[in-house]
Amino acid sequence: MTQFPLSPFLPVCALLAGLMLSLNSTQAQPAYSGRVMSLLRQMSLEEKAGQLNLQAGHDVGFDPLARAPITSPQVEQAIREGKVGGVLNITGAQNTRQLQLVATTQSRLKIPLLIGLDVVHGFRTIFPVPIGQAASFNLDLISRAERVAALEATAAGINWTFAPVLDMARDPRWGRMVETAGESPWYTAAVGQARVRAFQGDQLSDPSSMLACAKHFIGNGATEGGREYTGTNLSFRSMRDNELPPFEAAVKAGIGCIMPAFNAVDGVPGIVNQRMLSEVLRKEWRFEGLVVTDHGAIAELPNHGVAANLSGASRAAIVSGVDMDMASMGFGPTLPDAVRSGALDEALLDQAVLRVLAIKERLGLFDDPFARHDTAREKQLVGHPDHALLARQLAEESLVLLKNDKALLPFKRSARSIALIGPFGADQDHLMGPWEASGIHREVVSLREGITRVQPRISIRTVTTGYDDKPDAKALAQAVAAAQASELVVLALGEKAMDSGEASSRANPGLPGQQLALIKAVARLGKPFVVVVMAGRPMIEPALYALSPAVVQAWFPGSQGGEAIARMLFGLSEPVGRLPVGIVRSVGQIPLTHDKRPTGRPSAGPPEAWVSGYIDEATTPLYPFGFGLSYTTFAYSAPVLLDHDDGDATGYRIKVTVKNTGSRAGTTLVQLYTHQRLAAISQPEKQLRGFTRLYLNPGEQADAIITLKRDELSYWSSETIRQPAQGWIDVMTGPNAGETMATALFVQ
Ligand code: NOJ
Repeated sequence: MTQFPLSPFLPVCALLAGLMLSLNSTQAQPAYSGRVMSLLRQMSLEEKAGQLNLQAGHDVGFDPLARAPITSPQVEQAIREGKVGGVLNITGAQNTRQLQLVATTQSRLKIPLLIGLDVVHGFRTIFPVPIGQAASFNLDLISRAERVAALEATAAGINWTFAPVLDMARDPRWGRMVETAGESPWYTAAVGQARVRAFQGDQLSDPSSMLACAKHFIGNGATEGGREYTGTNLSFRSMRDNELPPFEAAVKAGIGCIMPAFNAVDGVPGIVNQRMLSEVLRKEWRFEGLVVTDHGAIAELPNHGVAANLSGASRAAIVSGVDMDMASMGFGPTLPDAVRSGALDEALLDQAVLRVLAIKERLGLFDDPFARHDTAREKQLVGHPDHALLARQLAEESLVLLKNDKALLPFKRSARSIALIGPFGADQDHLMGPWEASGIHREVVSLREGITRVQPRISIRTVTTGYDDKPDAKALAQAVAAAQASELVVLALGEKAMDSGEASSRANPGLPGQQLALIKAVARLGKPFVVVVMAGRPMIEPALYALSPAVVQAWFPGSQGGEAIARMLFGLSEPVGRLPVGIVRSVGQIPLTHDKRPTGRPSAGPPEAWVSGYIDEATTPLYPFGFGLSYTTFAYSAPVLLDHDDGDATGYRIKVTVKNTGSRAGTTLVQLYTHQRLAAISQPEKQLRGFTRLYLNPGEQADAIITLKRDELSYWSSETIRQPAQGWIDVMTGPNAGETMATALFVQ
């Protein structure tokens, strides 16, 4: 049993007086280098507060229309005057070099700049959105993609990414599900670690490494009703189970930055959540890196009603553990006076400045400030053709085949005509999804282009329609005619990029506009057709799944997405993606995850009264977590424990035998789930604890061996006590969370 020290949570109004004490008295200070300490000694109060100012993109002259950031004389002047510690949303080796030059040659103390950007799923080569990457369940491929993202971004002057997103995604109404790794805390932690290591490399000072920033700490994915920027009421103990583990894993992987969430948990916005920032992050996890606010979060604090004005908000944030102010212009203008008036202890300001300087030092910026501003390197690396190949590979592995009646897919390569219907058949503007960094629309491989590459001789009838709310009878008739006249029919449907992501919560996350009408019209022909869904979340659209003979969840597949989809449709690659979030039947079922807890009145699944569930809806999802079809079929045996009670020092090995029962070679993802039968806190019915892939030829049989780590079986029995597993543990394996077979393990 591990017991962590915990001091009572102080409300914001009490923070100002109390916190310095706790910082000074109980927190061991990391050792800072002589260079960093000497700089601190030379700094005026204004220069100290300036180091904590992360200047926003629009202030540095980001020109959204030209999609080309430019610098502005005002920002250069502010940098010269020591009022800026970092900038965001400026890219390009040349542009960023100019700012770095001003900082390191024209400012009094010559301190280099942090240069940040949201490199969320690629820089110029755009990979599938994170939820799509997560569907690959291929940590190695995800790592390689993030390494490429780091290579490209750092070559273009970026030394800091605001990624990975480690929020739990348990509500498809929340638009930012697209940025996450899905609903499993265990898997999100694993993906997060892979990403952190890939971004930061072996050495942060390497010019191809950049500082990673895990966000949004904490509870952003749990906002009420899936409404963006809204609060939530998670208990601290439940956050120990779900929200906190991915962040703790990122800290263990050496992440250098954490971004608190905009949202409040139990009435406390992320940037003033002293319990999280000081008690958990700093003291318990011993995080020594940088805490940066989200964009404008300090300025928003008065709206929450926990600070009266910008200066009060700035003081509350720094006192709670924030080091850097992104875009509020709160720290720079208000903290020096706060120190002079005695409202803020200068030691707190110093602490934040030291952390900023230490990160700059770890990034190697003092030794070679221009290492990431080399135009030759930029030209050579950004958008390199090898990167496109990797993007295509990851896009292929992200595709999830949800339905495939009568083995409609893969298409026969002898087909001579295909109808490509819907908003996204020829689209190049939305396939990258939100956070496209420096991706270029005209370089995106559309589905139509992808089909042409794969089947050069096929004739394609493209009808682009369906996204508008208003019915378009003529376009609908054209679509039906195209479907009628073609051998193959594909409907490319889904969401536009900006209909998923930040500020894109949807009360009804189904197919927008007339897309369902399109499905219905084509279905009436009685001809088989395939729907490819490009979206940042699964669509809650029962008729889509009921009426379509085949459905592929393609997420936003990135700049090479069209070719990846085409290759899968025509059988040049096989579907290997699996759902990192289950698909609910209706909005009313949300949240419904594979790791829900047992109840006193369990439901058998169908609608029923007097049990835990609904009288008008099933309690099971439409497609469970981990689900995805292959082009072949597999038979799973029950799991066999290779180690019983004792296991070895680290854990237990579980064997599953799988046979390919179909006529094509194929890959299955063997998944392992556990459930502790008896515990102080009712334990989730299933929790993903491991997975491995098996590639099998037709008729071939093989064993998958998955190790269940002993320490991962423990659980939080209270806010501060982590309880080792004890007693009977159900160990379940199968191709998804809805189709498992079980054995039991007794842990002493
Ligand atoms: C707001 C978003 O919440 C955050 O994730 C992002 O890093 C910042 N904007 C900066 O773009």
